[in-house]
Amino acid sequence: MKQYIIKGGIPLVGEVDIAGAKNAALPIISAAIMTDETVTLENLPDVNDTNVLLEAIRNIGAQVDRVDRHTVRINGSTICDCAVGYECIKKIRASYYLIGALLGKCSKAEVPLPGGCNIGSRPIDQHLKGFRAIGANVDIKYGKVIANCSHMHGAHIFLDTVSVGATINIMMAACRSEGLTTIENVAKEPHVVDVANFLNSMGANIKGAGTDVIRIRGVEKLHGCTYSIVPDMIEAGTYMMAAAATRGDVVVRNVIPRHLEAITAKLMEIGCEIEEGDDSLRVVAKRRLRRTHVKTQPYPGYPTDMQPQIAVLLSLSEGTSVVTESIFENRFKYVDEMTRMGAQIKVEGNTAIIDGVEGLTAARISAPDLRAGAAMVIAGMAAEGFTIIDDIEYIKRGYEDLDKKLRILGAEIEEVETEREIQKFKLTAG
Ligand code: EPZ
Repeated sequence: MKQYIIKGGIPLVGEVDIAGAKNAALPIISAAIMTDETVTLENLPDVNDTNVLLEAIRNIGAQVDRVDRHTVRINGSTICDCAVGYECIKKIRASYYLIGALLGKCSKAEVPLPGGCNIGSRPIDQHLKGFRAIGANVDIKYGKVIANCSHMHGAHIFLDTVSVGATINIMMAACRSEGLTTIENVAKEPHVVDVANFLNSMGANIKGAGTDVIRIRGVEKLHGCTYSIVPDMIEAGTYMMAAAATRGDVVVRNVIPRHLEAITAKLMEIGCEIEEGDDSLRVVAKRRLRRTHVKTQPYPGYPTDMQPQIAVLLSLSEGTSVVTESIFENRFKYVDEMTRMGAQIKVEGNTAIIDGVEGLTAARISAPDLRAGAAMVIAGMAAEGFTIIDDIEYIKRGYEDLDKKLRILGAEIEEVETEREIQKFKLTAG
């Protein structure tokens, strides 16, 4: 079982390059199969979730050629099966994007229904409502979403919940419907805009992505293109929090600073210095930071995917902070791990009350999910002593070379598998 071992207490200093956004890459890989022509995707993050999805589209017949680590060529003309296997959906929930993509491509889709997950129950009722509105018959049978349609047509859809997944999934299917589809109360995340831009590069006609209303005029055909995926705002935000928690000085490069405004605003509010470049942000934390309140919200609000990371930072900041999670019901599982490191956090419903402590101490902890896992790495880097983190497979789902990038910033972190490797690290760590 792979683990990270970290020797904490070292301020992160230096520059780090941010990869393409996982949460844009997943729907974009799915949408790429909607044309029979070749699509070349650049700046694709090399993380487990994208690799599993590439395997899933290969399994239904698509041709997938890796040009280099971050570039892939996809050709969907050879797709022979509209039924996606359970193995894939079990590994990544986002394979539900194949419902929208396959409906748009071949007017039918059979995709296992994703179950609950580590961060909450995560229903997909809004996705299904959208598919039905544009004319698809959608049934849930034998644990699968079975969708087909003879004629998809434009519709007016009002989402009951602001949902990234539903917005993107309906948008994909609607690209190939006849007439105009209007989706209201949509998600405005940069990855939603990126998927719309990608589909437009394939010949779709989508307007309004990034606002509350998206209008899609269906087209007869989509074509091939070359597209570069937007930088990952959550990966960037994670390094920014790590810089602040270790009282470091880090430049995140290859970012779009506007996408990170909610995060930079919070960091400035608690005492960090931020320098903005055209495609970079520098975070400097010279002293102990201050308390604040954080409430997660859909974009442009503070992202739920950055909630555990800021909680770690606030657990070390002066005073009492309150963190409210308003998107997912089960995103405080890391609190028990933090308590073992000396943090003082009390959870009441969807709120964590954090009394900042002077310092954390190392412990053996585990990664409860992807983002909380990254937060545990930040905690380990800020704590005194050697922290060991189990279940790092979660982290590898969405962070490319996390340990390597942190070492470039001066962290003492290593991926280990045996007791011998742990001992070796302890002997050699600076
Ligand atoms: C996406 O999940 C991301 N995943 C999540 O990132 C992210 O946390 C989330 O958006 C919110 O930003 C991907 O992009 C692959 P939602 P998604 O639909 O689309 C409720 C990470 O760590 N809802 O926007 O599944 C839902 O329960 C992951 O990278 C319904 O009620 O999230 C939640 O409360 C984790 N019915 C809220 O909406 C629906 O049909 C927002 O969920 C759909 C959602």
